[in-house]
Amino acid sequence: MSLPQHVAIIMDGNGRWAQQRNKPRTFGHIKGARIAKKIITACSDKGLKNLTLYAFSSENWLRPATEVLFLMNLLRRYLKKETENLVRQNIRFQTIGEIEKLPADIQTAIRYATDRTSKNTGLNLVFAISYGSRQEITTAVQRIAERIQQKELSVDQIDESLLHHELSTSSWPDPDLIIRTSGEHRLSNFLLWQAAYSEFYFCETLWPDFTVEDLEIALLNFIKRERRFGSISHHENTHH
Ligand code: FPP
Repeated sequence: MSLPQHVAIIMDGNGRWAQQRNKPRTFGHIKGARIAKKIITACSDKGLKNLTLYAFSSENWLRPATEVLFLMNLLRRYLKKETENLVRQNIRFQTIGEIEKLPADIQTAIRYATDRTSKNTGLNLVFAISYGSRQEITTAVQRIAERIQQKELSVDQIDESLLHHELSTSSWPDPDLIIRTSGEHRLSNFLLWQAAYSEFYFCETLWPDFTVEDLEIALLNFIKRERRFGSISHHENTHH
């Protein structure tokens, strides 16, 4: 009966939450960021090792410029305000995604938060920002092809482990639990390779309404499921 090693969350439904209240979508993002902060603290307090949050997908750049700008401002403010809190909570902050596409000052703030928290030994908090899994896999394949071209590597040395090491997530175990809020049952280009054996937990709750209790329900649900990795269960094993 143990916690997952790595929880990944697709925080979905901010826009709908705001629209239901006749407020602009950005109102939902503000509340969403507050919820993200609560959930991060709860995961840290529970002793969870790895938490990945889908904060901004590579497709999110296609949203209206004002919304993109708003999300960038929210991220900028979060990094400024929260870096010292992360230090105090012994949380290590890291990112995956095409950070180079972000405004320069946000890139600097990300580097600062990453360096400032790099010695922390508690929760590994990973923000997926400007992240798309197909892009990540494509980049990994390009790197491997380059190494072959340089004759550093031969084709028969390409295996799953090599690919794993070329992904931006190679420092952490694969997520064993992926949560998506707001009733959507899709992965939306999030951790495609890494999700091969993940358990999925979907709930109807919109992200701004998500609570620590909802997180606990998801964790309990995970703990109760029998995880077989395509093999037979330990229980069956002892009988056959
Ligand atoms: C999905 O809701 C949410 C996003 C695209 C942004 C996620 C960002 C946050 C929760 C803020 C986190 C930021 C920080 C700095 C912690 P949606 O807009 O897709 O909602 P909809 O599906 O109802 O339109």
